[in-house]
Amino acid sequence: ATTLGLWALIGYLIGSVPSGVIIAKLMGLGNLRDIGSGNIGATNVLRTGSKKAAALTLALDAGKGLAAVGLALAFVGPDAGQVAGFMALIGHCFPVWLGFRGGKGVATFYGVLFGLVWPIGLIAAIAWLATAAISRLSSLSALVAAIAAPVAAFIGWPDVFFLMVVLCALIFWRHAANIRRLMAGEETKIGQK
Ligand code: G3P
Repeated sequence: ATTLGLWALIGYLIGSVPSGVIIAKLMGLGNLRDIGSGNIGATNVLRTGSKKAAALTLALDAGKGLAAVGLALAFVGPDAGQVAGFMALIGHCFPVWLGFRGGKGVATFYGVLFGLVWPIGLIAAIAWLATAAISRLSSLSALVAAIAAPVAAFIGWPDVFFLMVVLCALIFWRHAANIRRLMAGEETKIGQK
């Protein structure tokens, strides 16, 4: 239990690094809170106009999930991997450094998936890309991918099914404002300001 607690803390701390905020600041792109949706993720970084900054944010935010899971798997095992992955998402969504007002967890979610069960990561990434290609809506793509993960786990990887349900629920919760905009037909398309 002590070991799992330790990996919960490590996962949280890794996840809590606000890549988007740091990159936007370093690249002189301004305060993300004042841009677009005000979110700290890659989708909103793209609204600054910098594809490079957005790609970097995506890579680093996904890298946080991958690193948290990968380290826990390497040092302990599958249970610690799941705990660290869950807590990395919590860290990204509720970082102590930003007064617990963080992101929506999508990029970090993919890192966690690839770290734990890479085929689920692949399935979720394909679901995101396919939905984005059709709709050009980042939030809708994230929601479809979030559902794809527990469905895939149910079919092929029951060990991670519970975690996938929890992560999917967390992502839906963090997208409440997006879901309202989607239903009202007011959600911004990818790259739109
Ligand atoms: O990953 C977040 C994305 O799904 C929505 O971001 O900035 O459009 O609220 P945003």
